[in-house]
Amino acid sequence: MMNALKNITLAVPEILFGLGVIKEIGDRVKSLGASKVVIITDEGVAAAGILNRVLGIFEKSGIACAVFDQVEKEPSLENVERAFKEASAASGQTIIGLGGGSSIDVSKMVAVLLKHGGSLRDYLGIDKVPGRGVPTILVPTTAGTGSEVSKFAIFDNRQAKTKLGAVSSHLIADLAVVDPELTISMPPSVTASTGADAFIHAVEGYVSTKATPLSDLLALEAVRIIYESLPAAFADGQNIPARYQMAYGSMLGGIVLNLASASASHALAYPIGSEYHVPHGVGCMLTFLEVMEYFAMADIPKFTRMAQVMGVKTESMSPRQAAQQAVEEMRKLVDYIEIPHKLSAINMDRSLIEPFAKSVVANQQRLLTNGPRKLTEKDIRIIYERSY
Ligand SMILES: [Fe+2]
Repeated sequence: MMNALKNITLAVPEILFGLGVIKEIGDRVKSLGASKVVIITDEGVAAAGILNRVLGIFEKSGIACAVFDQVEKEPSLENVERAFKEASAASGQTIIGLGGGSSIDVSKMVAVLLKHGGSLRDYLGIDKVPGRGVPTILVPTTAGTGSEVSKFAIFDNRQAKTKLGAVSSHLIADLAVVDPELTISMPPSVTASTGADAFIHAVEGYVSTKATPLSDLLALEAVRIIYESLPAAFADGQNIPARYQMAYGSMLGGIVLNLASASASHALAYPIGSEYHVPHGVGCMLTFLEVMEYFAMADIPKFTRMAQVMGVKTESMSPRQAAQQAVEEMRKLVDYIEIPHKLSAINMDRSLIEPFAKSVVANQQRLLTNGPRKLTEKDIRIIYERSY
């Protein structure tokens, strides 16, 4: 895909990245002029001791904290409303989103609701958010969604049985505090599912029709870094260099989402995630490899570049072989991290393939249009079938 001469808009928060940077969060809140914060998080983050660590830092800085720790795994619209009510009751005017993508996405919308009121449903869609929310600091405890730097917030719409997103530059945080130390307690299965999500952002963003020279630079580097460090982080969660690289790679992936967007495996994952409540990264991975089979020949140069950064010596290969080799490397990565990557692995009801394909076409055009190969309803059915 020729991507020269394209317009580029880059919107990212201020970023504080590195081992131990969480210690600076108290001073950062003070510099925002706040003396009280509402931390939005989930019970897993609390159980891992991360919440207490952050509370300790705020205590030292003399900042009062209210805590909402009831973010759901794949948060529903109702869950956001509940978090908003509690934050509002705590008269919170600065939000700290602490956790995986779920806590962070809920935080983004709570910040908007605190400032602008109104109904969450009105803000879903592209550019529906009326303006920036109250000051927000986002602190990821996984290395996956990149949501700490992104302009997206995704929720489960239980009635529509799919995931729906708000997309707006107003959702970009004031500050992202990305401290790889906070990701060390993730068990291997979570390292795998969140890391897979990051990898898919990098790959889908790299081959997106919205890609630009700037997104390519970040996306290809994220592919390289995640391919190299995800197996090591999966194998040994205490491997600090691997955790550092994963936090960095997933953050790059989040910026890539802002610049170039994800595509088909995200689109196909949303009805599955809504029905089966699998982790987002697993949902995407269930069709990812077949989506890649569908995409590879549509952009041979980019798949070849991905093969090369994943260590494949392509010099003696035909262009098609080289591009196909990228998919083979992806397959090896997926096998190594033991993540479910077949619909049969979650016992998906085969009769749902048809309604899911219809749902994707109806609800996920934002994502579908970005792939290098345009997918019709029939293509989507075929990908689901091949992924079974
Ligand atoms: Fe994702």
